[in-house]
Amino acid sequence: MPLIAITGSRSGIGAATAARLRASGHAILGIDVDDADIVADLSQADGRAAAVAAVLERSGGRLDGLVLCAGLGATVKPHLKIATVNYAGAVAMMDGLLGALARGESPATVVVSSVSSVQVTWATNPIGRALESGDEAKVAEVLAGAGTHAGHVAYSGAKNALTVAVRRRVVEWGRLGVRLNTVAPGAVETPLLQAGLADPLYGKAIRDFVAPIGRRAKADEIAATIEFLLGPGASYVHGAQVFVDGGVDAMNRPETF
Ligand SMILES: NC(=O)c1ccc[n+]([C@@H]2O[C@H](COP(=O)([O-])OP(=O)(O)OC[C@H]3O[C@@H](n4cnc5c(N)ncnc54)[C@H](O)[C@@H]3O)[C@@H](O)[C@H]2O)c1
Repeated sequence: MPLIAITGSRSGIGAATAARLRASGHAILGIDVDDADIVADLSQADGRAAAVAAVLERSGGRLDGLVLCAGLGATVKPHLKIATVNYAGAVAMMDGLLGALARGESPATVVVSSVSSVQVTWATNPIGRALESGDEAKVAEVLAGAGTHAGHVAYSGAKNALTVAVRRRVVEWGRLGVRLNTVAPGAVETPLLQAGLADPLYGKAIRDFVAPIGRRAKADEIAATIEFLLGPGASYVHGAQVFVDGGVDAMNRPETF
């Protein structure tokens, strides 16, 4: 039975992905802050190291797939935590588990980024380089000066840096035979989005924003794309960012792709 590790497995997209993959005959190792096979806090360096060690131990050092869903929305405080979970929490798992994936059967990783990843470019990302170099103090300093929308700066900056981190790894991962892709969801009905809708700063903008397809996604619609990217039908898909956004990116940037 193929073994897939999933961060953020207790809720939203991670839970929907775990359910889908279990139903199609995969064994799942869930990682989350609570209610998971492996309980770990990915906002902390020691939590990330403990999560990697626990996955290696529970998998016997051999993993067929990895899905990185754990993340925090723009409403969470402190804002630094948004950036560390969404960027470092994913990158540490990717890098720490590459060896185990290389020993797996047709291995693949799917990283959940966001359509927000293209709201800044790498050149204009105010926290991208600091995240990449692991300089948390600098990230905190930039966010402290980012004004009322610092949560959004943390979120979009971390997701932009995360997609860049995936793209930077395609040569090394390709050589080891491990496929690596991102999905970029638009608005998905999950607790993370509900917190945004209830927020006085972000709620109206989220409510007013309607995707061309005319509704928000259900978590299982993102999970279906993740399942595809992990599976044999995507055997030549590597280094891609797949937008699952109801047409938002094409609407916003028809000439940029
Ligand atoms: N919901 C959306 O509209 C949307 C849109 C684009 C991208 N995303 C991304 O999808 C991913 C999943 O989000 P979701 O919408 O399913 O939200 P969610 O809140 O339902 O699930 C997120 C999960 O991550 C876990 N998590 C948070 N902090 C953690 C930490 N420090 N350590 C370990 N686990 C932690 C949570 O406990 C939770 O189970 C996130 O990366 C999010 O940024 C969501």
